[in-house]
Amino acid sequence: MCGIVGYVGKNSAIEPVIQGLKALEYRGYDSAGISMLTDRDTLTVKQVGRVEALEEELAEHNSVKSRLAIGHTRWATHGSPTITNAHPHFNADESIMVVHNGIIENYQDIRTRLAKAGYKFVSQTDTEVIPHLIDHYLKTEGSFLKAFTATLKDLTGAYAIAAIHAQNPDTIYVARLSSPLVIGIGNGENFLASDPAAIMDHTKKVIYLNDYEVAEISASGVKIHDIKKAVEVKRAAEELDFDNEKAALGDFPHFMLKEIHEAPQTIQSAIRGRVRPETNTVKLGGLDNVAQQLQFIDRIVIVACGTSYYAGLVGEYLIEELAGIPVEVQLASEFKYRNEPFSRSTALLAISQSGETADTIAAIKKVENYGVLRLGIVNAVGSTIARMTDAGVYCHAGPEQSVASTKAFIAQVTVLAEIALHLSQGRSPLYKPLLNELVNLPEKAKQVLESADDIKKLAKKYANQRDFLYLGRNYSYPCALEGALKLKEISYIHAEGYAAGEMKHGPLAMIDKDFPTFALACDSPLLEKTLSSIEEIKARSGPVLAVATVGNKAITKLTADVIYVPKTHEQLQPLLIAIVIQLFSYYVAVEKGLNVDRPRNLAKSVTVE
Ligand code: AGP
Repeated sequence: MCGIVGYVGKNSAIEPVIQGLKALEYRGYDSAGISMLTDRDTLTVKQVGRVEALEEELAEHNSVKSRLAIGHTRWATHGSPTITNAHPHFNADESIMVVHNGIIENYQDIRTRLAKAGYKFVSQTDTEVIPHLIDHYLKTEGSFLKAFTATLKDLTGAYAIAAIHAQNPDTIYVARLSSPLVIGIGNGENFLASDPAAIMDHTKKVIYLNDYEVAEISASGVKIHDIKKAVEVKRAAEELDFDNEKAALGDFPHFMLKEIHEAPQTIQSAIRGRVRPETNTVKLGGLDNVAQQLQFIDRIVIVACGTSYYAGLVGEYLIEELAGIPVEVQLASEFKYRNEPFSRSTALLAISQSGETADTIAAIKKVENYGVLRLGIVNAVGSTIARMTDAGVYCHAGPEQSVASTKAFIAQVTVLAEIALHLSQGRSPLYKPLLNELVNLPEKAKQVLESADDIKKLAKKYANQRDFLYLGRNYSYPCALEGALKLKEISYIHAEGYAAGEMKHGPLAMIDKDFPTFALACDSPLLEKTLSSIEEIKARSGPVLAVATVGNKAITKLTADVIYVPKTHEQLQPLLIAIVIQLFSYYVAVEKGLNVDRPRNLAKSVTVE
């Protein structure tokens, strides 16, 4: 999953491309590159590391003027992060330059074929086959567009591609299959990017490219072709409501801390206009067009990845308890390759912050012809999953920039509570209490954030641990899994989330004085059981820190390291517990001096399988 950006127009192309790449670093940041057409020639500059490093390298060429350029920031899939493997890639005489996001699955076969025809490859990447293949077809197809289209027909896998050609100095050629690509419409200039956030400073008028579409982008216009149907496509631009302010870091040192501190307004935005205690109703406009079908749903399969999957697990408890509909939560990457029965009265519910996660998109595509309802819970407006599902609910959490997902989890759990209430049609005895309590959660989230300093102290105390265990029961079990993921992905500490009841069946063997446990022990009918698990750990000298509900004195007999959260219904506790585990992992990573927003080896939106 990489980020690509392009510009063609009346102004300098370098600045918008470089600034766009910086905005896309959440997609990959191990190397970057830019290719441009100048008055007399082509110029390509590549560098290992962040986009800043590329910018420094570019300073050597600051006399160069260009009105057309494409750029790339990389997350290596094939070949390590080196200058040679960085994009753009080109053909032998460097007249064709290409940037690519995705994976060409049949690149080895194409390489062998082209090598037999005398083509030489310099990099280890899958992408390098593209400029050589275009070069190959240019010999017979007569135009760049035809050569590009013939090339695409040879590729299998996922791609968002931008290509430029020295002999076509006014046009950028782009194509999309699975990986996201948006075109920005300006005045005498046009843009392209993997994500609208990269070009928002220049325009809010965008055209989303669909699968099997190719576009020719020039300063004066955009022409779209559907290569499967071999027809030209007319599509009007959409106006995006994007608040740059919201995307800014403000006074926070990191986006992760900023996004954790947005928890109160995140819950508020997710319930606004939807949760209505005054009329005892929940209104989810995004499901109106499938209200009929929803009545006949007798099973829900939730598909998602990472943090969204753990939010789905909380959703499973909520929907089953409130609406009495059986729910199965499946990892999207596993779901795609499973053969399981799927009746038409089953609904698929995909959860994704970015709306671009390839595994989740593949899971939705899998049931395309099953005649089942495909629903989505998505944060990124206009993203692929939002456009490919039949109906859904937006999270309205605003752009999430830190690779570690925080406010999106809070928004997803809030939306899942709303969907559970909606599907229960008020029949559950919990309906009214939860509906009324949801509007109190923003205030209670504020109270949890007031414990940030206490959490920081605990993080300092435990930051040098090598291993960590997170324990929870019932609604807190998915939070234990999520807590462990947060710690893993930004502090690189080995952490495991476990159902507390499972301790005796194995994990207890790991416990000793150097293996701390984070126990999620908020008030619930199962609290006593969680406390006995803590006892068992204490009996083996295992250090314990805990989250508990205000007023719980018993826990202080077991550990002094307790973070208290306000009292609320067990079903909504994940919204408060999440803030504690997110802050804890954040402060541990800061204590270890790590790059919190850009953890190693990860990227924000995983657009390759
Ligand atoms: C979470 O912090 C990670 N960034 C990752 O696990 C993420 O949740 C996963 O890749 C799913 O992303 P999505 O919600 O955008 O589909």
